[in-house]
Amino acid sequence: MMRKLQHLVAAADLDAAQIGYLLGVARTFSPYVQRGETIPLLQGKTVVNLFFENSTRTRTSFEVATRRLGGATTNFAASTSSVQKGETLVDTARNIVAMGPHCIVVRHASAGSPSILARALTIPVVNAGDGFHEHPTQALLDAYTIQETLKSVEGKRIVIFGDIAHSRVARSNIHILKKLGASIAVCGPPTLLPPKPDALGVDHAYRLEELLPDADVVMALRVQLERQNRMQIPSANEYARFWGLDREKAKLLKKDAIILHPGPINRGVELDTEVADGPRSVILHQVFNGVLVRMAVLAAVCNPEGLAEWLDRGGHRV
Ligand code: NCD
Repeated sequence: MMRKLQHLVAAADLDAAQIGYLLGVARTFSPYVQRGETIPLLQGKTVVNLFFENSTRTRTSFEVATRRLGGATTNFAASTSSVQKGETLVDTARNIVAMGPHCIVVRHASAGSPSILARALTIPVVNAGDGFHEHPTQALLDAYTIQETLKSVEGKRIVIFGDIAHSRVARSNIHILKKLGASIAVCGPPTLLPPKPDALGVDHAYRLEELLPDADVVMALRVQLERQNRMQIPSANEYARFWGLDREKAKLLKKDAIILHPGPINRGVELDTEVADGPRSVILHQVFNGVLVRMAVLAAVCNPEGLAEWLDRGGHRV
C-alpha cells in the first residue's frame, strides 16, 4: 500500500512510490486536459491560494488545475491583506479555514511555513514555494517533463546551473530526481553554490563547459537577487559570460539534450534568447505539464478515494 499523501510540504517527504503515482496520475489526466474536458474530482470544493510572494506561473497553474477538476479557487494577496496590520501567518490561515475551504496552497518567503500550517490546520496544505527551502510541485513537473521527453529519468545526467544556493527549485529537484535514479551535477559561481554540495548527493563544477558534454538535461535557474543579502556576483554581464548558456556553449551539448527553466527567465543572463526559444527548449511544455501535475496533487490530497475510483472506473493503471 502506498503511503497516503495528506499534505504536500516537501519533496524530501515523498518516496519513489508516491512520486511515481503522482506522475502517473498526471499522465492519465493529460488527454482529458488536451481535449478541454473537466475531470470532476474537486466538484463542490474550494482551494485557497495563499500567496505571500510574487508568482505568475505557479498561482495561475494551481487555479487552472483546480478549475479543470471542477473546483473553485479563491486568491489571497498578502500585499492587500491584514498581514500588513500585523496578523500572524497561522492566524491568517485559521481565519481562512474558518470559511470552509478544502485545501490551502501556500507560498511564503520563510522556509518551513507550509509545515507549520500543515500542523496547525485541519485541511490539506500544499507548498507552492517556501523561501530557499522547497518547491515540490515545480520539481514534480520538471520530472514529468523529463519523463515525457526522454522516456525516463533513471540513468539520466542532469546539470542544474545558476543560483543553486538560493533555489528552492534546485533543492526539490535534487530530492525528486535522485529518487527517480538520475545523477545530478550543480554548477555556478562558488558564491552561489551550497556550502557542501556533496552533502546533497550531487557533483559540482564551477565551469559549465566541463559538464555540458555529458548532460541529458540542463536546467537553468535565475539568479535570485531578492534573496541575496549582498551582491554575490560581480555584474550580470560577467555572470552571463561565464555561467550563461548561449549558442556557443550549447554547441557542447549532445544531440538530444534538452533545456529546462522554471521561469521567470532573465534573458541574456542565464539563458540567451536563441537557446531559450530554440529546438532543445522544453520550457513551455513545463508550463503545460505544471497544470497536470498540480491537478494530480490536488486530487490526491483533497479527494484520494474519488481519485482511486475514477482511475479504476476508467481502467487506468498508475
Ligand atoms: C521559481 C520560484 O518562484 O521558486 N519560479 C517558479 O515557481 N516557477 C523560481 C524563481 O523565482 O526563479
